[in-house]
Amino acid sequence: MFLETRSTQPEYLDSPERTASELEQHYLWLNRINRLTRFERPFRIWIPRLLPETACRKLTFLDVGAGDGALGRCLTTWAKTRGWDWSFTDLDTSTTVCALNPSGRAVLGSATALPFADNQFDVVVANTMTHHLESDEDVAVHFREAARVARHRVLICDMQRRLPFFLLLGTTLWMVGAPREFRQDGLQSVRRGWRVSEWERLARAAGLPRARVWAEHGSRVLLTVDKNADQTRQAR
Ligand SMILES: C[S@@+](CC[C@H](N)C(=O)[O-])C[C@H]1O[C@@H](n2cnc3c(N)ncnc32)[C@H](O)[C@@H]1O
Repeated sequence: MFLETRSTQPEYLDSPERTASELEQHYLWLNRINRLTRFERPFRIWIPRLLPETACRKLTFLDVGAGDGALGRCLTTWAKTRGWDWSFTDLDTSTTVCALNPSGRAVLGSATALPFADNQFDVVVANTMTHHLESDEDVAVHFREAARVARHRVLICDMQRRLPFFLLLGTTLWMVGAPREFRQDGLQSVRRGWRVSEWERLARAAGLPRARVWAEHGSRVLLTVDKNADQTRQAR
C-alpha cells in the first residue's frame, strides 16, 4: 500500500551536483514553509516540559542537520523573551549549506559521527534531518550519537509518513506557489519519513530502550532521550 514502506529514493536537493544558488533558493522556500508551519513549536513546547525551569535558564544546544541555522536563531530569540540564555552550535553535512549559515560558525560533520565529546551539550536537537539518512543502521547510529554528546536531553523531530499529511503538504506547497523541485522534495521527504513503531525499534537497536517516541498532529514524529534517568539507573 502507498507509504506503507519507506522510500529510499534521494531528494533532488541531496545530489552533490546541486549549485549554491539552487540551495540558496531552496532555503528561502524552506524558511517560508518553516515559518508557516511554526517549525520551532515542538521545541518551544517540549524543552520546558522535559527540563526543570532552573535548567532552562541557560542551555547549550547542538542542532544536527541545522541547514542555515534558522531553528537555533528562532529559539534563541524566543528564549530571550523569557529571560533565558540559549546558545546553539549548528552542524550540517553539506559545505554549501554551512556557508548559508549567517553565524559563520557552522560545523561540518555527519549525524552518524558527531565530532564532539561525550556530554558536550546540554540538549541535542534535530529537525527534519533524520529522513535524509539512508538506512535503518544510520538512523540507529544517529540516535546513539545524539545521546552520547547530550548531557541532559535529546529531542529529535521529523515528518511522519502518513497519507493525510502527504496530501496536506502537497496541497499547501501547491497553494503557496512553491517551485516544482521544492514540492517534489517536500513530498519525497514524507515518503522517506518515519512512523512511531519504526523509531521505537531503531531506538532499541541504538541501545536506548527507554527513549520515548510519539506522534503529533498526524504530521510529526518525535523522539526524546533523558540522559539523567539513564545515568541514575546505571549508577544503581
Ligand atoms: C530539510 S533540511 C532541515 C534543515 C533544518 N534542520 C530545518 O529544520 O530547517 C535537512 C538538513 O540535513 C542535512 N543533512 C543531511 N544528511 C545529514 C547528515 N548525515 N548529517 C548532518 N546533516 C545532514 C542537510 O544537508 C540539510 O541541511
